[in-house]
Amino acid sequence: MSLIDAAAQVRENAHAPYSRFKVGAAIRAASGVVYVGCNVENASYPEGTCAEAGAIAAMVAAGETDIAEVAVIANGPDPVAPCGGCRQRLMEFSTPEVQVTMATVAGAVKVVRLGDLLPGAFTSSQLDGH
Ligand code: THU
Repeated sequence: MSLIDAAAQVRENAHAPYSRFKVGAAIRAASGVVYVGCNVENASYPEGTCAEAGAIAAMVAAGETDIAEVAVIANGPDPVAPCGGCRQRLMEFSTPEVQVTMATVAGAVKVVRLGDLLPGAFTSSQLDGH
């Protein structure tokens, strides 16, 4: 199964009764294993979690910390752009070269480097010697 197909499949499980905007994310880790996540909202709107955050949590819980590739899908007019917070979360476990495939359910696809989504990222190296 392709990474975007894995994201599309898990998107079906998204809990998004408030926004009605279901998102699926799939991460291929360095081992080759694919980890998936969907957005999970709740009645206290700001406390919901993004699909990317769920996939990252599954990867880390499984003992992996290196992202090789990412795919995100939603049913919007344009390929879904990871939110600012998720760009930072992805960068924690990626290099700027990591490929992020953004897609719509209708079939539009946009491929970008994570470094282009988050230029000038704040990373752990900036914490050195503080
Ligand atoms: N959302 C994600 O899960 N990932 C993104 O990349 C963009 C936004 C979710 C958060 C919220 O549950 C819904 O989409 C609407 O913002």
